[in-house]
Amino acid sequence: MDSQVVGTIRDPETILVVKDITVNRSGKLILKDINLTINRGEFVGLVGPNGSGKSTLMLTILGVLKSHRGTVSIFGRQTNSSHLYGKIGWVSQAASNLPKDVRLTVRELVQLGTVNGKNMFRFADNGRRKKVDRAIKMVDLEDVQNIDIARLSGGQRQRAVIARALASEAEFILLDEPLVGIDRDARNSLLKLLDGLCHDEGKTILMVSHDLAAIRQTAHRMIFLEETIRFDGDTEEFPDLVTLADLRGIGPVHGHAHHAHEEE
Ligand SMILES: Nc1ncnc2c1ncn2[C@@H]1O[C@H](COP(=O)(O)OP(=O)(O)OP(=O)(O)O)[C@@H](O)[C@H]1O
Ligand SMILES: [Mg+2]
Repeated sequence: MDSQVVGTIRDPETILVVKDITVNRSGKLILKDINLTINRGEFVGLVGPNGSGKSTLMLTILGVLKSHRGTVSIFGRQTNSSHLYGKIGWVSQAASNLPKDVRLTVRELVQLGTVNGKNMFRFADNGRRKKVDRAIKMVDLEDVQNIDIARLSGGQRQRAVIARALASEAEFILLDEPLVGIDRDARNSLLKLLDGLCHDEGKTILMVSHDLAAIRQTAHRMIFLEETIRFDGDTEEFPDLVTLADLRGIGPVHGHAHHAHEEE
């Protein structure tokens, strides 16, 4: 009986379970009836028009925003659980706009990703140094690792923030528009890197992007969000733009969609 309970609640393959959540912000309904399960090793692309609630969903998963209804659990635990500390990596939409008045080198920033309650004052820790080296190498910032982040380009800064998430060895990485401000070569190598993390290291990724072509190339699964989930499935089955318009409930622009509806 015990094992069944473990299997249901803490199935090691189930990373995220979002159940029936509804989220209001400033009294306005932003998300409703969201149900979503993500398993280990999945690379999920989250797309949708501006203002459709993508960032809101990310922040709710992270436990920063509270859902009005429903539950979110990660690794079988509620998101505010201290057990999740260090297991979740977060790259925010504004990552490339890091405060410019903070004096921090790239290496120091990445190092922050490895800080946890236990090692906070052990700066010389060899394991940590290796993780930091590896993460910086992965995003190809070795040449600028000792340079102040304020002096980096937007794309470099974005990669530095991604390196911080990689150095943390988080098992579940959420990225909100990580490709903004990154040139095409860097973008492709980053996507390859993220894909490799899922395939080779069993990491789980949920990534928001407006770059439909890039995300379709990489994500195995796509979610189209507009207030609620309108599509969730294999990337190969992701609808074309015409079908997407239907999913979004957009009628013909020049026709009389409103009247047509009334006549039916
Ligand atoms: N702090 C806030 N208070 C109230 N409403 C907010 C707040 N932040 C966002 N919203 C509203 O919530 C809705 C969803 O915003 P959200 O940022 O989640 O969208 P998004 O899909 O991430 O958009 P984008 O593609 O532009 O990043 C929008 O209508 C927005 O105006
Ligand atoms: Mg957003």
